[in-house]
Amino acid sequence: MSSDSEDKYITIHSSSDFKAMHLAGHLAASCLDYITPFVIPGVTTEKLDRLCADFIFDHGGISACLNHLGYPKSICTSVNHVVCHGIPGNKILEEGDIINIDVTPILDGWHGDSSRMYYVGKVGVKARKLCEVTYESMMLAIKIVKPGITLGDIGHTIQEFVEKKRFSVVRDFCGHGTGRVFHEPPNVVHYGQPGQGMVLREGMIFTIEPMVNSGRCETKTLADGWTVVTKDHNLSAQFEHTIGVTSDGYEIFTASPAGLHCPI
Ligand code: MF3
Ligand code: CO
Ligand code: CO
Repeated sequence: MSSDSEDKYITIHSSSDFKAMHLAGHLAASCLDYITPFVIPGVTTEKLDRLCADFIFDHGGISACLNHLGYPKSICTSVNHVVCHGIPGNKILEEGDIINIDVTPILDGWHGDSSRMYYVGKVGVKARKLCEVTYESMMLAIKIVKPGITLGDIGHTIQEFVEKKRFSVVRDFCGHGTGRVFHEPPNVVHYGQPGQGMVLREGMIFTIEPMVNSGRCETKTLADGWTVVTKDHNLSAQFEHTIGVTSDGYEIFTASPAGLHCPI
């Protein structure tokens, strides 16, 4: 599809929409800040779900994940070789685990979608490196965002950096447009060629959420219909921000108020 025909499916947002997204994104980021001290050995992922759900509710939001296409919980908790969409349950976190927590509060009708990696106690060198590279790949891509660049430029930036570090980029899941709708066009894939794909314009709002594997990029979905794991059972990491394209760059709606973007 040419960029012209793709363009008509893309919502262009106003500055008041951006203000609303900053509030929703602030709630997402505050929730991820709030949960940080609870991510310790011995805690269950269900407890993290409950704490986040209550935090979001207490701050005037509701979770977009709960009941989304039948999803049973309020957040996603993806531990070690789980790539994404891990369902909170009776799993007990252990020293050395890495976990992605993904939250999407809806505030006043707007979606703030963000995730981070957390270290459970002391974490091994390889796992920490994977998390650092994943975070840096997302930030490198965010920093090139402005009107006129393409989705291929974003994907290429992530892929090139990740593969240089000898990790792999997951192809089976991608970032997405968001705003009043949880997931809308465009698909923001985390691999690609410079100059290819849709051209960015002021007012677009989307997520960048690279999933990076320490082994091969292939994934499979478990029988619960949600939990996505690495096929080779190696570790996987992910970070996610929701951003908007401005006249000369970008705004990050989900920046951490406490400066806890990454557990480095
Ligand atoms: N927050 C996820 C994303 O980044 C979507 C989770 S959908 C759920 O797009 F149903 F699994 F919660
Ligand atoms: Co998302
Ligand atoms: Co998310």
